Amino acid sequence: MQYEAGSIGTTAMTGVTRAAELTVVVPTFNEHDNVAPLIELLASALEGVDWEVIFVDDDSADGTAAAVREIAQRDPRVRCLQRIGRRGLSTACIEGVLASSAPFVAVMDADLQHDERLLPRMLETLRSETCDLVVGSRYIAGGRVGDWEGRRAGISSLATRLSRLICRTDIADPMSGFFMLRREVFDRAVRRLSGQGFKILLDLLASSPGQPRLKELPYEFRRRRHGTSKLDTLVAWEFGMLLADKLVGHLLPVRFALFTVIGAVGLGVHLAVLRAALAVPTVNFTKAQAIATVVAMTSNFFLNNLFTYRDQRLRGLRLLRGLLSFYLICAVGAVGNVGIAAYVFAADHVWWLAGIAGAVVGSVWNYAVSSVFTWRRR
Ligand code: GDD
Ligand code: MN
Repeated sequence: MQYEAGSIGTTAMTGVTRAAELTVVVPTFNEHDNVAPLIELLASALEGVDWEVIFVDDDSADGTAAAVREIAQRDPRVRCLQRIGRRGLSTACIEGVLASSAPFVAVMDADLQHDERLLPRMLETLRSETCDLVVGSRYIAGGRVGDWEGRRAGISSLATRLSRLICRTDIADPMSGFFMLRREVFDRAVRRLSGQGFKILLDLLASSPGQPRLKELPYEFRRRRHGTSKLDTLVAWEFGMLLADKLVGHLLPVRFALFTVIGAVGLGVHLAVLRAALAVPTVNFTKAQAIATVVAMTSNFFLNNLFTYRDQRLRGLRLLRGLLSFYLICAVGAVGNVGIAAYVFAADHVWWLAGIAGAVVGSVWNYAVSSVFTWRRR
């Protein structure tokens, strides 16, 4: 069958509703009870706008995705993108935006904490002004964080100050999870996004080539009505990793840097244990060195499990298996270390150069192989 020029816009498309001008991307994890109320609020706030909403759900156990699809059966403006075996607020937002074709895209939380009544003003601002990105801000005149307890407010303000280090833009609320942008802004940054953690806006600002023209609109952060916040120590860790990645990530991978720092701590542990063991009269040097080596490897393993690979932390039986594989990998690394050092020393007799060469080869080996076998991604 052949289409005549222009037929897509006329006959072939009759009966099709207008494409969305605005997509609202909503990441969800166990937000079952918030889905229906949010859709109702969106529908009344966005009266007169061609909008759609994409819920990106990470396979919530409470049936969030089913709740979305149930409404989507009746309302074609509602869509569900369900991800299996994945977690992550940032990547959920990124994939939601990628699933949209609209010229304007907003990101907001499902828990009704972000004020949907701001959306029409955000859209109006993007349509009418020379501006690429509108951010819902808690920290400019007229904005508020609602009834946060002191600790959370303190953490947020510290994190906000740290964030300004990497986002090159003068913005009051770089941690906001509520914003709207032209899709070209997203398209220009998408391949550089780190996708790490909770802070998608911060990631966008730090990854955009050139500075997006930005405007902040105040809103009051509301109280969560159903469900619980997913903010925890892992989120804090991911935030640190995002900051580090944007600060030094172009020099060396952040995980490798952490692994090396922990390796240096391990050296300290090794020397301390060695000295303590040598103080025991029955222990000779070889035995003391062996004890120190095992203790240092063990502490390295647990520190790496806690810090370097917090997002893939091993527990239970996996922890034991991981520890054994780590011993094995480090043992091979040590043989390589000594072998390379001996080889370099034989060649030019500079002891410190030989020592460094061995240590570098050993730690790169340990890092590369343990990242594949000990902390493999599931
Ligand atoms: N798909 C998916 N995957 N969604 C997630 C995940 C995840 O791993 N973790 C959280 N979410 C969803 C939640 O269901 C919610 O809709 C939204 O992301 C925000 O999660 P909350 O747990 O409610 O975060 P918060 O209220 O502590 O912090 C939010 O607001 C802050 C202020 O705007 C976040 O958006 C922060 O990034 C933001 O700074
Ligand atoms: Mn929330």
